[in-house]
Order: sequence, then structure tokens, then C-alpha cells
Amino acid sequence: MNSPCYNWDRSSWLSSKEYFEKLSSQLIEFLDITEEKKILDVGCGRGHLLETLSLKANLINQPVGVEPVKHDDFVPQNIKIFHSSINSFLNENNFQFDLVILKQVLHLLTLDERKKFYHDIKNHINEDANIVFIHMNDQTEIPLFPLMENKLQQSLKSHKLLLEELTQKFNLLKMFNFNYHVKISLEEYLEMISNRYMTVLLDLSKKEIEGGIDFIKKNYPKQLVFQDTLTIKVFN
Ligand SMILES: C[S@@+](CC[C@H](N)C(=O)[O-])C[C@H]1O[C@@H](n2cnc3c(N)ncnc32)[C@H](O)[C@@H]1O
Repeated sequence: MNSPCYNWDRSSWLSSKEYFEKLSSQLIEFLDITEEKKILDVGCGRGHLLETLSLKANLINQPVGVEPVKHDDFVPQNIKIFHSSINSFLNENNFQFDLVILKQVLHLLTLDERKKFYHDIKNHINEDANIVFIHMNDQTEIPLFPLMENKLQQSLKSHKLLLEELTQKFNLLKMFNFNYHVKISLEEYLEMISNRYMTVLLDLSKKEIEGGIDFIKKNYPKQLVFQDTLTIKVFN
């Protein structure tokens, strides 16, 4: 199955060892992830984050990822991935977790799926468990072309709504940012655009993508340098 997000974490800084090592270190520190924690990553993609967390925090229990798409090009070690939607997974399993990670996935669930998730997850978490909502920072520096920027702004607005939903169901404990310094050639980045690496690119026509590539070629240098910033909100 080729998912809409098939190219998201395929080959770029978004799948690099360094990116996940730095993100994992920050999560371990800020969330106090100790070896006995039982972790669920909803929409884990290729499982890079869980694999790195498992190693860095010496997790005793294999962390669990839920991901509808079976990626054949990468097999993560020391983690268990269930190929399912999060709603079916929670229906069919009775695992209990201490930490639930939602990294750049919640906006892809429909309102009904989210409502069911907010309800069902409560039966799968321990009393002091954390739910961690991770999304792209609203002031992103990622190179964009006008149509992509427009779509991204609409998508970023949805974070406000998702935050409202989450704060109705859980208590917001703290938030912090993760900054990753990206250096990538223009050529490589254009390849990512042409592979529609972000969901906001999926609905664009071939002509709109080509126009966007021309815009970025004309307006950005041959070597791109920018901060990719994630906002991390912790609930319980
Ligand atoms: C933008 S990607 C993020 C992947 C990963 N969390 C990361 O940040 O690298 C969103 C992921 O959510 C998955 N996804 C979409 N709908 C889902 C659902 N209903 N249940 C679980 N995962 C889902 C997609 O297949 C995709 O892998």
C-alpha cells in the first residue's frame, strides 16, 4: 500500500540518524523517559523514532508503533509495529502505555477517528501516563513556494483546533520546541518536493508542483540552510 505519506520519512533529514538521535535525547530529558517506560507511537512511519528511543533509553519493553502502511525498505530493530489504524489497534489490543507519542499524525485523522482515539486511549494508559503531541512549529523556516505556503498555513491552523480538543480531554503540562539545523542541497530538496514529501503537496497538480519547483529554484540558494522546528506539547 502506498500511503499519502509514503515519502515523508523515506530519505532526507526527516529520516536521518542524527535527527532522531537529537530528538530522542531531548524527549528522554524533557519527558524523563526511563528504561521501564512502555511507549506507543501512533502513525510511527518507518519507526525511526521508536528505534532510536529504544536504544538510547535502554527500554526493557519493546516500544509499540501503529502504522497502517507496511514499509518494505526499512526494518526497524527492537520495536514492534502493528500495521493498522490507531482506532482498530486500540479496539483489538489491551496493551497499557506510559507514554503515547503523536508526531505529525493527529491532523491526518478525521474528527470521528480523533474522538474515538481520545475516548479509547484512556483505557490504554496508566494513571500518570503522558500524551505527547508533536507538530511543525507555526513559524516554520522550511523552503516553500506560494501555493505550498498557503496550504501549509491552513494545515498549521488546525493545530489550534487539535490543541483545543486535547485540552478538553487531558491536562496540558508543558511545552517546548525542538530545533534541528538542516543543511541540504537545493537539488535534493527539489527532489523531495517532486516526491510530494509533505501531505500539503499531495493534492497539487503536476503543473503546480513544476511551478513550485521553478519558484524555489529562482528564490533559494544552491545550498539550503534552515531550522526545522517542532513544537512538543505534553499532556496527562
Ligand atoms: C506525516 S507522517 C509522520 C510519520 C512519523 N510519525 C514521523 O513523524 O516521522 C504521518 C503518518 O501517520 C500515519 N497514519 C495516517 N493515518 C493513520 C491512522 N488512522 N492511524 C495510525 N497512523 C496513521 C501515516 O501512514 C503516516 O505514516
